[in-house]
Amino acid sequence: MGSQFQRRTTLCLGVLLVMVSGTMGAAPKKPVDVPFGRNYLPTWAFDHIKYYNGGSNIDLVLDKYTGTGFQSKGSYLFGHFSMQIKLVPGDSAGTVTAFYLSSQNSEHDEIDFEFLGNRTGQPYILQTNVFTGGKGDREQRIYLWFDPTKAFHSYSVLWNLYMIVFFVDDVPIRVFKNCKDLGVKFPFNQPMKIYSSLWNADDWATRGGLEKTDWSKAPFIASYKSFHVDGCESSVNAKYCATQGKRWWDQKEFQDLDGYQWRRLRWVRERWTIYNYCTDRVRYPSISPECRRDRDI
Ligand SMILES: *[C@@H]1O[C@H](CO)[C@@H](O)[C@H](O)[C@H]1NC(C)=O
Repeated sequence: MGSQFQRRTTLCLGVLLVMVSGTMGAAPKKPVDVPFGRNYLPTWAFDHIKYYNGGSNIDLVLDKYTGTGFQSKGSYLFGHFSMQIKLVPGDSAGTVTAFYLSSQNSEHDEIDFEFLGNRTGQPYILQTNVFTGGKGDREQRIYLWFDPTKAFHSYSVLWNLYMIVFFVDDVPIRVFKNCKDLGVKFPFNQPMKIYSSLWNADDWATRGGLEKTDWSKAPFIASYKSFHVDGCESSVNAKYCATQGKRWWDQKEFQDLDGYQWRRLRWVRERWTIYNYCTDRVRYPSISPECRRDRDI
């Protein structure tokens, strides 16, 4: 018992020291434009995806008949996964645009971005969640500091053995540290595919389901580009993916946020966060272990 406690303390101290001293974390690699078809394929309602510029840009279309979605061809273990998205403009209430990574088994791991639409001029909500071993219930919700329907912005996930970080452009909006030592499962051995979709969720999405989708405004369109994938493709080289330390996202500067990134994250928490399961004492009378580790310094 004693030695285990000591190990935990040391680990937490290690994290603290790195945070105080500030690592030299470079921003994740910039997205590279490649055609949709190189890394992705449509998942359903193929005729609701429109292609432009030789497939470098696509639109997902939602109408009263159906939404649509796509997924990566490959499955990945660790990496940096990004997408440039311009969300449904105007009256998007009731619609949800999602960008997520998920494994395909029952006790699945999942890393989610969900954009909940709103009435014209009202703010989108960006909801994030992390599932490990089939367990989710880790929602966080923020407003964005820009209008996500006016231009493309990049939404990305850095996933290595140390942490999962959600970025909006270069700003970390959420970090989920590996707290295996505290008994929290961390995704490390179930390859994930990348998914995106646009669908109608007016039973819950906008003001908890009060605002319904206005079908007279259809079709609803979300635009995408930058289909580059920077991950370890597990089906191609399983052994290599399981071997840590070789790829850029394993390197020292990506094992923790640097001082600047921690400050940006704190700004998001203070200024833009509207819900955080970590601080929901009604739902979680005792704080979840992983929340203790990603607290503000
Ligand atoms: C939509 O706008 C309302 C009013 O400003 C706000 O309360 C809500 O959080 C916004 N977003 C969603 C998805 O409901």
